[in-house]
Formats: sequence, structure tokens, C-alpha cells
Amino acid sequence: MTSNSDTSVLRPSGRVTFDNTGRVVIVTGGCSGIGRAICESFATSGATVVCADVDTIGGRQLPEGIEFRQCDTSRTDDCASVVGWTVERFGGLDVLVNNAAIQPKDSYRPIHEVPVDVWDGVIGVNLSGYTFMAMSALPHMRQQHSGVVVNISSGQGHRTARQVGTYGPIKAANIMQARQWAVEYARDGIRVVSVSPGAIDTPLVRASLEQQGGGAALANRHPIGRIGRPEEVANAVLWLSGPDASFVTGTDLEVDGGLGALGAFADPYPMPNPTDSSGSHA
Ligand SMILES: NC(=O)c1ccc[n+]([C@@H]2O[C@H](COP(=O)([O-])OP(=O)(O)OC[C@H]3O[C@@H](n4cnc5c(N)ncnc54)[C@H](O)[C@@H]3O)[C@@H](O)[C@H]2O)c1
Repeated sequence: MTSNSDTSVLRPSGRVTFDNTGRVVIVTGGCSGIGRAICESFATSGATVVCADVDTIGGRQLPEGIEFRQCDTSRTDDCASVVGWTVERFGGLDVLVNNAAIQPKDSYRPIHEVPVDVWDGVIGVNLSGYTFMAMSALPHMRQQHSGVVVNISSGQGHRTARQVGTYGPIKAANIMQARQWAVEYARDGIRVVSVSPGAIDTPLVRASLEQQGGGAALANRHPIGRIGRPEEVANAVLWLSGPDASFVTGTDLEVDGGLGALGAFADPYPMPNPTDSSGSHA
């Protein structure tokens, strides 16, 4: 860890490394942001990675070594097809990361103003998509008597704000899906967990900066003083899906720079002076 103070001493920080050689991993929504970082981290640690995403252009831009399958996770047949293809081609499935989600601008409203088609669209991807992928993956994992499912949820699944009556409650459901599946399949050798990021620098967050009060305010709301990087979420996912987390299941890990610990009653942190280079930045 580094400090910006002049008197600081650079101390050793330690390092965890991952070896996913031979493991087969599916990441939904892996063409962008957090999903892409998860794909890259698994791939560089030796896994065979299948990115399942609707975005065919993004699919062509993935680094070499990451397989791309076009898949709309709101469609059961697409989910079954990507899981079937992966198991047939690579002989098994060790990790499923349910990550693909949308947060359309039209969903940022009190629920009485949310168009029903917007609600249905978010439910389709963010909730049903996670279930459809799990429905296809779990029979293979049961047969292997091993496997890990990681649901990417959000800090908004734990706490809420005005205007997020669509996205927030569905993210809370992702946490409960993980708990329920963990309990259901624990004796089948399968672990299921969720990860709840704070604000992470991805296209999804950049598109909603205005709704979140702007970049500087969003960063300052996190006790650490910045928003997160996609690879910081990926590191948590890799640890949770590896053998070092073998006794961890049915739980959620918040990767949020302390955001969830800060009470609504707490004094806000003073906004850093933009000309002061000693502050923390996203
Ligand atoms: N970025 C953040 O600050 C943040 C914070 C908390 C939680 N999250 C969660 O992290 C996950 C990833 O978010 P992100 O910020 O990286 O998003 P992003 O918009 O950068 O990427 C989402 C990816 O999902 C894909 N996708 C969208 N609809 C799909 C569908 N129907 N089928 C398959 N793929 C689809 C997109 O093509 C894209 O590649 C989401 O579950 C999100 O809710 C993000």
C-alpha cells in the first residue's frame, strides 16, 4: 500500500497469485468492463475462458485466447447453447460468472414512471439471465460433483437510493439467488457466492455519471476516495472461485472501497481540492 504523505515508507504489500490451469470458465457479459477484466484474469491465470455476450463487435475485440459465443442471457435457448457448446468442446465447466446486466437510462425513475417494457428488459437480463445460465450449468456441475457459480450483484443490492427501483431490487435478488443455490447444491460439491461492487470505472458507470452526481462526487462518496477498477473486482472473483475459498459459500463479498460501511448519518468527506495532487483519485 502506498501513501501520499512525504514521510511514508514503502512497505512490502504481499501478493496472491492464481493458477487456473485446466479450468473451464464461462463469463457472461465479458466483452466490457468488469466482465472483460474477469475474462482476462482467468485467461492469464491459465483457464480456458468462454465469454458469452450479445455484443459481437466486442467479441471480435477480445484478447487472443478468450473464446467468444454470442449469447443473449435473457434467452433460455442461448444460455443452454453456450453451456452445451463449452462442455462438449472443453470437457466440463468449473466456474460460471453471472455478470451480464443492463441499467437503461429509462429505468432511473420512481417505479410508477418506469415503462413496463423497461422493467421486463431489466428482469430478463439481470434476473432471469442469471437463473437461465445457472439452470444450464448446474446439471453439469452436479455430474462432476464440483463447480463454482459467482453472481455479480452490486452495492445497490444492499442499500438503495431514489430512482433505482428497478435495478436495485433485482441486484438484491442476485444475492439471494446465490444464497439459495448455495444451500440447494452444497452437497453436490458446488459453491455459490455473490460479489457486490461499489462504483467501478466501466462504460455502465460512465453512462450514468450524471444520475450519480458526477465523477468527483461519486469518487468522494467512497471512503477510499476513488471509484474501483474492474480488475479489483476480478481479483475477488478469482479468489472466491479458487480452492483457497473452499469453505466460502452462500455469502456475499462487497468490493466497494468502504462505501457500504459509511452510514447515511455520517458527515460527508470534504471534496478534495482538484489542484491538490496529494488526494486520491479514480
Ligand atoms: N460498474 C459498476 O460500477 C458496477 C457496480 C456494481 C455492480 N456492477 C455490476 O457488474 C456487472 C458488470 O457491469 P459493468 O459495469 O462491467 O457493465 P458494462 O455495461 O461495462 O458491461 C456489461 C456487458 O454485458 C453485456 N450484455 C448486456 N446485455 C446482455 C445480454 N442480454 N446477454 C449477454 N450479455 C449482455 C454487454 O454487451 C456488456 O459487454 C453487472 O452485473 C453490474 O450490475 C457494476
